[in-house]
Amino acid sequence: MKKGKLPMKKDILTLLDLTEKDMEDLFRLALSLKAEKRAGRLRSTLSGKSLGLLFDKPSTRTRISFEAAMIQLGGSPVFIGASESQISRGEPARDTARVLSKYLDMVAVRTFSQDLLAEFARFSDIPVVNALTDRYHPCQVLSDIMTILEKKGDYREIKITWVGDGNNVAHSWINAAAVLGLNLTLACPEGYMPDPQVLQEARRRGKGTVTVTDDPQAAVSGAHVIYTDVWASMGQEREQAVRKAVFQPFCVNEALVERAAGDVIVMHCLPAHREEEISASVLEGARSVVWDQSENKLHMHKAILLKWIGGL
Ligand code: CP
Ligand code: NVA
Repeated sequence: MKKGKLPMKKDILTLLDLTEKDMEDLFRLALSLKAEKRAGRLRSTLSGKSLGLLFDKPSTRTRISFEAAMIQLGGSPVFIGASESQISRGEPARDTARVLSKYLDMVAVRTFSQDLLAEFARFSDIPVVNALTDRYHPCQVLSDIMTILEKKGDYREIKITWVGDGNNVAHSWINAAAVLGLNLTLACPEGYMPDPQVLQEARRRGKGTVTVTDDPQAAVSGAHVIYTDVWASMGQEREQAVRKAVFQPFCVNEALVERAAGDVIVMHCLPAHREEEISASVLEGARSVVWDQSENKLHMHKAILLKWIGGL
C-alpha cells in the first residue's frame, strides 16, 4: 500500500465477507475486551469517532450493545430511525449512504432487504455492518460463537444443531460453518428450510458439514449446542398463526434437550417466545446460556468497532 493511501473499506454484509483469520482475531479481541472490562479497564481509542445506527426494524440488544460499545470506547453513537429520517419520504439509500459517509466513521444498518443493504454499502465510503436483514444476522452469530468458545473451549469438534425456522440467523450459521469448518445440523419444517443458495454456497466452499433435516429429534441427538430462534421473524407477523401450528414439533423443551449430549448448552438470540420455540423451563434452566450470549454482543461489537474503525 502506498504511503498516505487509506486501506479499502471493508464491509460486513454477510459472514462470507470475513476470513477464518478475521473471525479468530475478532474472537480473541472480544474475549480480551471482556476480561479488561471485568478488571475495570476501558479503552478510549475511538475518541472523536462516530458510529451511525440506521435502523428500520425494532431492536433492544443490537442497538444498545452497539451504542454502549461505542460510548465505552470513547466514541459517539448516532441513532437514525429510518422512519424519522428522509428515507421514510423516499430519499434513496444511495444518497443517504453518500451523505452519512461525510459525517460518520462507520454505519450499522438494520433493515429488511439484503439488496438494499448492499446498495447502501456500494455507495458508502465508510464501512457498513449488517445489524440484521431478512436474510442474515452476521454479528449475532459472531458473538454466539464467542459464547461457544467460552463454554466449550472450541467450536470445531462439536455438534451444533439449529432447531426451527431456516431464517436470517440460520443463514448466518450456515455461512459461519463454511468459513470456520463447523459441524452444523439444521432441523426445520418442510417449507421453512434455509435458502438452497445459501446451502449451496456453503457446500461449494467445502469446509465443515452442513446437514439439513425435518426431524428435530434426530437432529439434536448427541448435540453439544442446541440453538433456536422465533418462528416468525420481524416482518412475518401476519404468518404467526400458521407458523405456530407448523412448528409445534420444533419446540426446544426438556424432552428434546434430553436427547442431546449430557453437557449440551441451549442458545437463543432473543427475544424469546416462551412455550413456542422454547419452553420456559429450558430458557431459564441450567443449560441455557442466553444471557451470556446477550452480554457477548457488547464485547464482540467493541471488537468489530476497534478493528473496522481503527482504534487498536
Ligand atoms: N438478538 C438481537 O438481535 O436482538 P435485538 O433484536 O433486540 O437487537
Ligand atoms: N429471526 C429474528 C431475529 C431477531 C434478533 C428476526 O429477524 O426477527
